[in-house]
Amino acid sequence: MTTVTLIPGDGIGPEITEAVKAIFAAAQVPITWEEENAGQTTFDAMGELIPQSLIDSLERNRIALKGPITTPVGKGFKSVNVQLRQKFDLYANVRPAKTTPGIKTRFDNVDLVLFRENTEGLYAGLETFDERLGIADSIARVTVEGSHKIVRAAFKYADKHKLKVTVAHKANILKAAGRIFLEAAADVSKEYPNVVWDDKIIDNMCMQLVSKPEQFQVIVTTNLFGDILSDLCAGLVGGLGVVSGANIGDDMAIFEAVHGSAPDIAGQGLANPTALLRSGLMMLQYMGLFEQASRIEKALEKTLLDKNSCTRDLGGTASTSEFAQHIISNL
Ligand code: NAI
Repeated sequence: MTTVTLIPGDGIGPEITEAVKAIFAAAQVPITWEEENAGQTTFDAMGELIPQSLIDSLERNRIALKGPITTPVGKGFKSVNVQLRQKFDLYANVRPAKTTPGIKTRFDNVDLVLFRENTEGLYAGLETFDERLGIADSIARVTVEGSHKIVRAAFKYADKHKLKVTVAHKANILKAAGRIFLEAAADVSKEYPNVVWDDKIIDNMCMQLVSKPEQFQVIVTTNLFGDILSDLCAGLVGGLGVVSGANIGDDMAIFEAVHGSAPDIAGQGLANPTALLRSGLMMLQYMGLFEQASRIEKALEKTLLDKNSCTRDLGGTASTSEFAQHIISNL
């Protein structure tokens, strides 16, 4: 049994976490959960956003599954997600987007993985606002080392799976930050002579993705562009409720649903647990538990083919826990 830190999060987090726990238990996945929360819920209860007990648990276990955490817009505390990624140097945000039979979308042939730099860029936290002058500066810090790390992660994955890499950037305008990133790709590509790669300016990249997404296999980009592109890719394959995500560093990984805490539907049993479940399946693969991951994946895919078994966002009528029960029946 491996111990995994479980962070239920805010809003719909506890509901979808319960669903994933039930499915993993039914599939006899050999892990023990160590539950520690963070975010608005812990702040309201104990005045702490990221309790020390969570930090200790993460340092001990080096692996976690995390629900969504509320972040106030334009004020209040710095995103817990961003803090955890930066504290533990989880530099690679890995977001697969693949068409699923049964989930109706505009395209039926999307199969790509996006690697987003996760700790620097415009999320470095270098922000000032001079109220007197009415000037805000949000600085994108892009480093040579950070760029090499994320680009290498993408090329390594592409090399292993024999895929093409596309580097998305804005080096035509961002002559410093954009150039560093593009140069990192050129450098790292020499280590992977078998990997075919090209680059695209971010605006063209968006247009290409929404018109011909099948041309992309592995995309690597900086933090803000990756944040936006990854939701765009989620939209191509069925939305935020069905895509997985992982924050991966050299010796720690936090797997998380990519959607937010969905306050509009929290506590009503309407949330789709697929995104968190798929993130959990990425976690099982990372842990080498391929057999369990594949068994649950097949049960999920079977369930998704039957609209009536699905949650409302997928056109069904099942509640979160009913949907989980259908997956369990299909195991
Ligand atoms: P959101 O992802 O929470 O919600 C957007 C829309 O998608 C809503 O209509 C919601 O009901 C729906 N939705 C999201 N997840 C769903 C699911 N599993 N099943 C069915 N429907 C689902 O995004 P929003 O409203 O922009 O953010 C709400 C809060 O979440 C904010 O405080 C934001 O900062 C936070 N957030 C946290 C993230 C994280 O912890 N990784 C990621 C994105 C946002």
